[in-house]
Amino acid sequence: MTLFEALRESHDIQRSLCRQLTSTRSDTAKRESLFLQLKVELEAHAASEERFLYAPILMTDSGLSSSRHALSEHHEIEELCEELSVSDKSGAAWLNKAKKLSEEVRHHLKEEESKFFKVAGRILTEPQKTTLTKRYVKDVVRMRKKYAEDYQLVAVGKDGKVKKAATQAKPAA
Ligand SMILES: [Fe+2]
Ligand SMILES: [Fe+2]
Repeated sequence: MTLFEALRESHDIQRSLCRQLTSTRSDTAKRESLFLQLKVELEAHAASEERFLYAPILMTDSGLSSSRHALSEHHEIEELCEELSVSDKSGAAWLNKAKKLSEEVRHHLKEEESKFFKVAGRILTEPQKTTLTKRYVKDVVRMRKKYAEDYQLVAVGKDGKVKKAATQAKPAA
């Protein structure tokens, strides 16, 4: 797997979770679970991508503008996730904000895939890409597990991907 294939794997997960989240209607339990899975995936991917893609290219003059732009979008996405982290997720206002998050995420992923990854592809050497791929792949799973620990509704499967946690058995009365 190349560095950009590894990064795109998370992008596909993000797109799928955005699609599922914005099509939820009255099932607020499902909405809560999908939102938290998306939040964990966004946070984990952004952290590992910043470390193993943007930090190295930020050190070069030709990668400065792309990495700054991407990091500021990561920050905007993180802020929207915080705004959405309220206990009542049932209203139209919440769903509209979730749609805004979904649009921002889609815009960001498209810009990375069509522009920033190409810039990085020209800057990084082949040995660098090989090392960064190994580090990113390991780190993103570790970060998913770390962020998932905050939420009972999210787990990380044996495949290293976020998933809905198994329903907890109710304690005996
Ligand atoms: Fe990305
Ligand atoms: Fe990104």
